[in-house]
Amino acid sequence: MEAPLPEINETKAAKGKVLFAQNCAMCHGVRDENGKFPMTEPNPLGKQFIEIHMTALDKIGTDPLMAMNFVNPALNVDPGAMRNYLPEEFKDQDKVPRGVMLTTVVGKVVEKQLNNFNPPLDDKQKLELAGYHFPVEKGGPKPPNLVAYKARPLNGIWATAPYLHNGSVPTLYQLLLPDTEREKSFHVGGTTLNTEQVGFESNQDGNSFLFNSVDKQGNPIPGNSNAGHSGKYYTQTQAESNEWRDYTEEERYQLIEYMKTL
Ligand code: HEC
Repeated sequence: MEAPLPEINETKAAKGKVLFAQNCAMCHGVRDENGKFPMTEPNPLGKQFIEIHMTALDKIGTDPLMAMNFVNPALNVDPGAMRNYLPEEFKDQDKVPRGVMLTTVVGKVVEKQLNNFNPPLDDKQKLELAGYHFPVEKGGPKPPNLVAYKARPLNGIWATAPYLHNGSVPTLYQLLLPDTEREKSFHVGGTTLNTEQVGFESNQDGNSFLFNSVDKQGNPIPGNSNAGHSGKYYTQTQAESNEWRDYTEEERYQLIEYMKTL
């Protein structure tokens, strides 16, 4: 049998919880003492959702490729047979953003399925199936800045290494180091959990492959950067004065111990 997960050190986790509340929780929502996440204002249907914060790309500084792919006009596509279904403002354009195509195609597929029910669904049932999301054209929330990444609630984060949207940081410990000090390459695919730094062991058992954030000359590989999420709040605190300083080793492990409890 595999070794069980080590017990949480409650004292350490409690200290980490305070640090997290001061430096991280404004972006990564956490449950309150009643188990409730911070919620959005009710939408026009009276429904609330877990509040999620997006951080603009220039502020977070992590690899830009994924966010930019979504909005890069050079990657716009010919809508072909979908043209008639596009929102008005895109109908006359030769090529349209991929994000618009994606929502149009998926929206139509869903709509078709919803209309196939026999007996037909009433409006209330359709809304329920759509998760009570309220479309923009009916006054729902405008899509956020797309050149941004999502700061998700970190529940279950201990089990989901490697970290960041591009899986470029092997452990929680390394994510709390200034980005210049993070490992530039490591093996992914291991299944042995490193319960101290929290991530998977970078072993080379034949089923793993090497992740590189830079090429042999040391130049960044587009899409693979492990930079960003570094500096004030991310890897630094102003705990005892107005001076910003890197987290101490002790504080890093306190934050990690707390994140294990999420
Ligand atoms: C200003 C907002 C902001 C603050 C403050 C912040 N984060 Fe984040 N965090 C983000 C965003 C945005 C991402 C996603 C970035 C990406 O994937 O490129 C992220 C990603 C992460 C991830 C990886 C999530 C995953 O699924 O791989 C962890 C872990 C994390 N943050 C922990 C922390 C901790 C711990 C702190 C405080 C010490 C903190 N963050 C402070 C915005 C923030």
